Amino acid sequence: MEKASFILENNDSVCNVFSGKKLNEEIVKYLIELKKAKYVIVTDSKVKELHGDTLLKQMNAAGLDSFLISFREGEKNKTRETKAFVEDEMFKEKCGRDTIIIALGGGVVGDLAGFVAGTYMRGIPVVQIPSTTIAIADSSMGGKTAIDVPAGKNLIGVFHQPIAVFMDPELLKTLDDRNYKSGLIEMVKHGIIRDKEFYEFFKENLKIVLAREGEEYERIMEKIMFDNIKIKKDVVVEDQRESNLRKVLNYGHTIGHAIEKLSNFDLLHGEAIAIGICVEAFLASKKNILSEQDFLEQKELIETLGLETRIPKEISTKDIIELMKLDKKARGGMPEFSLVKEIGKYFEENGKIAKRFSLEDLEEVIEDYRNLN
Ligand SMILES: NC(=O)c1ccc[n+]([C@@H]2O[C@H](COP(=O)([O-])OP(=O)(O)OC[C@H]3O[C@@H](n4cnc5c(N)ncnc54)[C@H](O)[C@@H]3O)[C@@H](O)[C@H]2O)c1
Ligand SMILES: [Zn+2]
Repeated sequence: MEKASFILENNDSVCNVFSGKKLNEEIVKYLIELKKAKYVIVTDSKVKELHGDTLLKQMNAAGLDSFLISFREGEKNKTRETKAFVEDEMFKEKCGRDTIIIALGGGVVGDLAGFVAGTYMRGIPVVQIPSTTIAIADSSMGGKTAIDVPAGKNLIGVFHQPIAVFMDPELLKTLDDRNYKSGLIEMVKHGIIRDKEFYEFFKENLKIVLAREGEEYERIMEKIMFDNIKIKKDVVVEDQRESNLRKVLNYGHTIGHAIEKLSNFDLLHGEAIAIGICVEAFLASKKNILSEQDFLEQKELIETLGLETRIPKEISTKDIIELMKLDKKARGGMPEFSLVKEIGKYFEENGKIAKRFSLEDLEEVIEDYRNLN
């Protein structure tokens, strides 16, 4: 098992990170030491059946005063109503300030349970047990919590760092193939922007990562999950020191988000970001920021991962441009990009990470990209 404690500066809190197989015993041991009055597992309907009930049983057997609250799985339930439901269940169980929430699930559970924890009686601690590749790669570290509202996704939330994150490759074995692969793209992204060694290790072990079986998988995944979260942590910590570094995480996301929205969310987030990374790498190569070879390298890895790299035919270049113009980070109608200059190194110019291009330039690049395939 890999283990580390990270100091996250905005509230001086320590976040303990564990990566390894069959972690439930470790989780229970950790929770006992916290000596809380109440332990609440928050999860969704699917993860409850697959993993939640087992953890609850183990916690109760260890003498922890624990119970489980589950809500219907799916992004459409990351709402105010669900948040209120979870809070009211906690009040029914007489949870006071001496309660801890254990968020067991994907990004939806992590975001919602994290938000409940951030506001319940002005804030109680949360432990994250991410069970999807997206949650492991991205949402369990960084402290962002949120719900969706009719006006848009993730518009209401707070920053609330978890006190611990437990990552167990065993949980990922029950995840469907599409969700599994698409979440891996955020890990690949972390390598591309910050860490060539990590990128190479991921690439070398891709077959094992995709096979999801045997001891080798657990050993490799334990390392990948751990190294990945360290990259994300470093970015978040440096960002807190006013460097604005968090922007590098947007690589692939300016175009990726537009494609995700224009697919009416038929594409999973990671599937759209995979295409976004390819187009943005192509953009960087066209602008002589990145070599053509490093653009092709990224595209090939994404293809080997089994993800689509072509922009869907039904989505027009004009619509992508229109949507990017409206992006909240666009200024003067020019969207903002976080690019890379080589694998493992994000692009920066005069201390600025973001780069803007005219809409005419972007239209041309996107059209050229479409003609490549
Ligand atoms: N806070 C952040 O920094 C951050 C970062 C990235 C994404 N997010 C959020 O994360 C959400 C997406 O996360 P997600 O893709 O994990 O979605 P999700 O939580 O909806 O999980 C996807 C599906 O997989 C199921 N599932 C979860 N774990 C499983 C397992 N081990 N086995 C079988 N099925 C399992 C879920 O029930 C669900 O049906 C979005 O709401 C997004 O906004 C937040
Ligand atoms: Zn993302």
